Amino acid sequence: MAFVPRGHKAFNTGRKIWSYLILLTATRSMSSAMKAVVLDKFGGPENMRIGDVGMPEVKDDHVLIKVHATAVNRADVLQRMGKYPPPKGESETLGLEASGVVEFLGANVKKKFKIGEKVMALLAGGGYAEYVSVPDSLVMKVPSGTSLVEAAAIPEVWLTAYQLLHFIGRVQKDDNVLIHAGGSGVGTAAIQMTSLAGAKAFVTAGSSSKLEFAKKLGAYHTANYKEDDFYEVFKKETEGKGINLILDPVGASFWQKNVKSIGLDGRWVLYGLLGGSNIDGNLFGQMLSKRVQITATTLRSRPLKYKKDLVDAFSENVLPHFATGELKPIIDSVFELKDISEAHKTMETAANTGKIVIKVLNEKEEL
Ligand SMILES: NC(=O)c1ccc[n+]([C@@H]2O[C@H](COP(=O)([O-])OP(=O)(O)OC[C@H]3O[C@@H](n4cnc5c(N)ncnc54)[C@H](OP(=O)(O)O)[C@@H]3O)[C@@H](O)[C@H]2O)c1
Repeated sequence: MAFVPRGHKAFNTGRKIWSYLILLTATRSMSSAMKAVVLDKFGGPENMRIGDVGMPEVKDDHVLIKVHATAVNRADVLQRMGKYPPPKGESETLGLEASGVVEFLGANVKKKFKIGEKVMALLAGGGYAEYVSVPDSLVMKVPSGTSLVEAAAIPEVWLTAYQLLHFIGRVQKDDNVLIHAGGSGVGTAAIQMTSLAGAKAFVTAGSSSKLEFAKKLGAYHTANYKEDDFYEVFKKETEGKGINLILDPVGASFWQKNVKSIGLDGRWVLYGLLGGSNIDGNLFGQMLSKRVQITATTLRSRPLKYKKDLVDAFSENVLPHFATGELKPIIDSVFELKDISEAHKTMETAANTGKIVIKVLNEKEEL
């Protein structure tokens, strides 16, 4: 039975025996297979379909979540194309985040969750499925007043934006923060958290509707990168101080304007390559004269300890602001799991402002 953890050590202590018995009872009422999005071959969105896969292995420190919703990320699109394999040992199934209810707790779970409790989790893969098994340190309680559909839009992009702004970018009150792809999942989260930190968000995007939305989220100033030189637009508004922190998912096509925009001792965090990776020009010379620090970062491949620290800091400093309504997950659209190909097409045409959420449960099972 694939669901029973391999090498389970639940035979020695009372708690472990109890856990094991519960697990056996749970598995009796569950099939060893589940529905998930399967990839017939790498390539376009048409290669995804719903099929049967084995239940995930539940390790001792894991929480088994019955998935209500997941969401699409750019990494899923790249993985689907065969350009971004999952880290070793992680699920081959797409999906970097999920919301749902606790179905089962491993014997060594330390966080206090109850069976049936609403949770959301950061995943290294496996979210496009009926069940996902996650280390308890990456599972968070859903803030009160937040639905499970909204919760599915939080883990990946909000934790990424928190990492960019605080762990790496060390944002300070009154900083000028340049946020590219302001209509993206990460961008819409970063704009809100920049205001929360008391800093000013300077935002670029490729359409007026995305820029108007960014203003509603708290952007201080915006520029359409397709029509205007964002360096020229923001130069005046930063009153000579320049940009203190750039959150950059674009890379090559923006580097010259970025280096002109950044101020003395500026921090520049590269976290994507939407605009390519090859550059030609005097980047180092301009970095040196402005004492610029560039840091490149990824989240998925980070060690569990790093992700745990990120989840803990985010849970303490940011999650309470969802319950008060000060922050909100931004949802562009909600698709059924069977329409996963359409959902990917929406992201690939840059049509979304905010997150594309995928409902995994049927309507009749909705919580
Ligand atoms: N390193 C990490 O840890 C990490 C984690 C999560 C995400 N990411 C990266 O963060 C980025 C955003 O992810 P997401 O899921 O939030 O994306 P998303 O919602 O799909 O939004 C991406 C947006 O970027 C804009 N864009 C696309 N190509 C561009 C280009 N060449 N120049 C300027 N803007 C461009 C498009 O909006 P416009 O209409 O404005 O052009 C597009 O809608 C992706 O690159 C993703 O890979 C990195």
